[in-house]
Amino acid sequence: MPSYQQIFENNKAWIASKTINDRNFFEKLAQNQQPDYLYIGCSDSRVTAEDLMGAAPGEVFVHRNVANLVNSIDLNVMSVINYAVKHLRVKHIIVCGHYNCGGVKAAMQPVDMGILNPWLRNIRDVYRLHKDELNRIEDEGKRYDRLVELNVQEQCINVIKTAVVQQRYLEEGLPTVHGWVFDLHSGRLVDLNINFEKILKDIREIYDLTKK
Ligand code: CO
Repeated sequence: MPSYQQIFENNKAWIASKTINDRNFFEKLAQNQQPDYLYIGCSDSRVTAEDLMGAAPGEVFVHRNVANLVNSIDLNVMSVINYAVKHLRVKHIIVCGHYNCGGVKAAMQPVDMGILNPWLRNIRDVYRLHKDELNRIEDEGKRYDRLVELNVQEQCINVIKTAVVQQRYLEEGLPTVHGWVFDLHSGRLVDLNINFEKILKDIREIYDLTKK
């Protein structure tokens, strides 16, 4: 772990590494951003968005919160999605969860978590929606892993419920939504292969927001 002072030394080394082959690296970086990807992931310090994707500055628009939730009354995540879809015109929206997620673990305990209650409620709702499947899994570790995956799936659906995503998809066939899980034990990124087209079609009856 770097000391507080060491961080600024690291920053100098990082600048040097970026400019050694490209003297104008930061001048170009300062001009504009045109990322193809919006990444919505967990705040967990072990799940480093750009690092695990091998992405460079300017390539990924990032939003992180506890347990990678997309809640329609969270002005923060909804603003991020709106800006990324309408103005940055990203091509892909990724919701990335991870095994060993503390937020998901906390939601599995039926106890009062104070200020975290309304936040964790979103994950408890995912549990309720998929109670039959989850309760059939006897091994607690496997049930925990499955809840992580189902939470990603439900947050993807929440992204697809938004008006901006539906409207731009109708016009351009973009963006598409993907659900991933990061496996801390192996470092592997797992694509859950969310069926974006099917979800979009299935939710239309109730959540169609393409008409103004
Ligand atoms: Co987490």
